[in-house]
Amino acid sequence: MSPRTKQNLLNAMKGEAFESATYSRFAAHARMDSDWDSAKAFQDSANCDRTGHFAREAALDGLVAQTPENLRNAIDAETDECKLYKQFALEARQDGDLGVATAFEDICRDKEDRCTALDGRLQDMGSHSHIKTFGA
Ligand SMILES: [Fe+2]
Repeated sequence: MSPRTKQNLLNAMKGEAFESATYSRFAAHARMDSDWDSAKAFQDSANCDRTGHFAREAALDGLVAQTPENLRNAIDAETDECKLYKQFALEARQDGDLGVATAFEDICRDKEDRCTALDGRLQDMGSHSHIKTFGA
């Protein structure tokens, strides 16, 4: 696969994942308004993006490997994202967006906990962990 096609698949998957999550939130909002038909339309769109479009693109990309490698990839992704969120929190705090800064910090702690759980699965499988350390 050409590097350009690979990059386009990655961008498409990011878009589908974002749309799916967004439409799920729209569906939740519609349910709060007891607008069941809109909620179903949003949730159907979210499910289609996640289980149809994203899944098809992920298969073409070879995103999913064997479980030990998937665990390592998930740990790496969560670790990298946590480092990014720490920087985002710092910048949000500098800009006076304290609620956003707190959210980034809370999410980062959740990601650290998730990494610990994922790493535990790796160790249970007898695989060596290469969990990265979270920066300060
Ligand atoms: Fe889609």
